[in-house]
Formats: sequence, C-alpha cells, structure tokens
Amino acid sequence: MRKQYSDSDMTELELQSLSTNVGVEAIGVDLATINEKTHSAITRALDQHSSVLFRDQNLTPSDLVAFSRRFGDLDQAPVMENGKTAVPGYPEIYIVSNIKGDDGKPIGSLGSGEAVWHTDMSYLENPPDISMLYALEVPSDGGNTTLCSMAAAHDELPAYLRKRIAKLSIKHDGTYNSGGFLRKGIREDRDPMTCEGQSHPVICAHPRTGRPVLYLGRRRNAYIMGLERKESEKLLNQVWDFATLPQYTYCHEWRVGDLLMWDNRSTMHRREPFPAADRRLMQRTQIRGREQPKPMN
Ligand SMILES: [Fe+2]
Repeated sequence: MRKQYSDSDMTELELQSLSTNVGVEAIGVDLATINEKTHSAITRALDQHSSVLFRDQNLTPSDLVAFSRRFGDLDQAPVMENGKTAVPGYPEIYIVSNIKGDDGKPIGSLGSGEAVWHTDMSYLENPPDISMLYALEVPSDGGNTTLCSMAAAHDELPAYLRKRIAKLSIKHDGTYNSGGFLRKGIREDRDPMTCEGQSHPVICAHPRTGRPVLYLGRRRNAYIMGLERKESEKLLNQVWDFATLPQYTYCHEWRVGDLLMWDNRSTMHRREPFPAADRRLMQRTQIRGREQPKPMN
C-alpha cells in the first residue's frame, strides 16, 4: 500500500501513500521553516488525499499557529470541559488530553475514552475547513486516530442509496461532543427531532475541489430532515455502515512529533480509547470554514 512518489512540482514534496483512499505522508518537511512553494504543494496534497502526515516535528505553539494560519483564518478554540479556554496566549490552540493538572482537573478535553466517528464541529453553519492535531505525548497503547474518506465512500455508495439521499439534508447535533460529553452551556436533549443543531446536505460539493463528498457529522442525535424518525434512523444506519467500511479508512498510530492534518469537509475521524493511566497530550488547531456546506448542482 505504501507507494512513494513526488508532488507534481517533482522536487518540492516527497509523498508516501498511507492507504488506498485517504492520507499521504510528506517526507522530510520541517513545518517551522516551510516556504510558500512547499505550502502550495501541501495544499495540493491535501486536496488530493484529504489528509497529510508530517513526522518528527518540533513545533512551539507559535510555530503551530503560524503553520496553521497559512491555510486560512483560525477558529478560536472551543471552551474545554474544564471550563478553560485553551493555551494561555494562544486562544486558537485546543488541548486534547487526559492529563490532570495540579488542581486535579483535566488540562484538556476528551479524556481517555473512545471518540466516535465524527467530522469536527459539523453542528456549525460554517464548519471548519481543516483540522490539525500535533502530538506532544502519546500513550503506550491505543489512542490511534482513524480517518475515513467521504469522497471515496460517496463514489462507491450503491446507486440506489446515493439516489435516495441525493436531495436530503441531515440535522447535525450540537448537544454532545465526540467523547459523549455534553457541550458547555447546552441543554441535555437526546431527541434528534428537537436537539440543537444545524442542517447540511447529505451530499456536498467540496468547497475547493467541487468533488462530491458525503457529509455525515455524527451519528448520535442525527436526523434526516423531513423523514419519519424511524425512516431517518434506518437510512442513516445504511449510509453510516457503508461510509465507515475499512477500505475507506486509514488508522494512524501516533508518535511524538507527528502532525496530522485532515480536510474536515472530505473526511471523518474517530479515536480509539487508551489506558487511563497513560498520558496523551495533543494540540489542535482548526482553519475556519469559508463557506457553508453546499449541495451538488
Ligand atoms: Fe475531532
């Protein structure tokens, strides 16, 4: 599966395929010192492969923010489960961690449990375009992040199913995060028909490439607008079962210094649980969505 080749610029970016449908590793790049040409090549790789991995990085919070900003405006990090906002001085950086601080409270979000399949913040009107995760500490076992290509899943979806969902929209729940925690300031609601959320077309045109992609968000509390609840559940299950088949995925085993970026409009991701006694520390940035998910014409 690991195919080695160069970016079309030939000399600018050495790429290695990570799986059949999603993910490529860019070899020998120091993200703290890249130039505009390399940035352009990374953008092309991201458009083509939906996710780019960089190993052995040594980035300060300032480096991470500077690299992220090359791709657009950054979202302010959401308020974390501990009620704090991100890293002092860097409101764009969100901490994903199970580590507890001196006060006995977690320094970040998502704990050590499973984070189920999702697309980041799809409950917003303009969900983020790109997400980046940078590994500072990794557990001895587990905690892998798996990505899924929503472009490939769309393309291979059985024709009857694609036709069935072509004009439909999903309401994306804004109540719970991917770890199952209730979001700060949101009222508990387990009913997909009434929970807070934002609807988007099930099949969207990718904002940069125009390629059709499935846009599913999260399964929990999801609802296909206009259908009976039972019918919505059945159809959602069919589409979700197909979209998350192993052939559309890449499982990333983290090493310290990895930066994994993914296109938030053409992928979903999930995280495996890891031992609660282990430490895992990640910094995340997100590139603000430039537009609302749009249907295919
Ligand atoms: Fe996420």
